[in-house]
Amino acid sequence: MPDTPNLRTVNFRVQRANPGENAEPEWAEFPVQVQAGMTVLDGLLQIRRRLDATLSWRYSCRMGLCGSCGMMINGKPSLACNTQILDVCKDRLRLAPLANFPVIKDLVADLGTMFAAHTELKPFLVPPEGTRPGSAEFYQSPEQLMEFLQFSYCIKCGACMAACPTMALGGGFLGPMPLTAAHRYNADSRDQGFELRKPQLAGQRAARHCHFAGECTRVCPKGVDPARAIQLVRRDLLLDLLRLRRKREAPVRLEEPADGDRQPPIEAPPFTARGE
Ligand code: FES
Repeated sequence: MPDTPNLRTVNFRVQRANPGENAEPEWAEFPVQVQAGMTVLDGLLQIRRRLDATLSWRYSCRMGLCGSCGMMINGKPSLACNTQILDVCKDRLRLAPLANFPVIKDLVADLGTMFAAHTELKPFLVPPEGTRPGSAEFYQSPEQLMEFLQFSYCIKCGACMAACPTMALGGGFLGPMPLTAAHRYNADSRDQGFELRKPQLAGQRAARHCHFAGECTRVCPKGVDPARAIQLVRRDLLLDLLRLRRKREAPVRLEEPADGDRQPPIEAPPFTARGE
């Protein structure tokens, strides 16, 4: 089909696989009409609408927030909704599911191992002993917030895991995303969970296996820098081994407002049926 003004045909070469039915993945080609500003996700939606309704991939927010649409775009782990087609190719684009994960179908990778490792590292605030989780608020200074803020931007898209050469070797390495999440909580002044996470962080599958290739940081669509987080985990573990790690002081609990400062109870207006 000849290109019309402002529209260009880009050939999408997409890896198709249905592990339940055929063992070997195959490549399918789809001509997509592209104009400036279109994202890879827009191109996939066009394929599904006009060419092949059976093509599978995952997406939700369409704005780089939910992390669902991670895939290999021209060999680089990226978000489909955050990648403009004409920024990464002229007339050919190659799409495959995220590397280092099993494939469920076509471009849908199974991120179950990543989320299992994430859960294993207890990615939540562990409050001081004797405090029920969620029952109190603690003071945190802006400087203390900056210790972990960058790491809290992770959207768990799996791009860092797909780029990691240690993950590619197999062997059960926990991976950059779970280790970054663990450091995000270790570095939080309100958290007392380092001892809880230590067995996994120092274990056979953890931080010391990182070769510091830095690929995770290079591909992270949110600028999180997992490579740095892993080095900081290693630093904390070494300081702990040498008994040089300072024990974290219990965070300062925010006082409840004095009685006089309380908001007056807000009462719901009495119910009246419409028209009364
Ligand atoms: Fe949510 Fe792309 S669809 S990050």
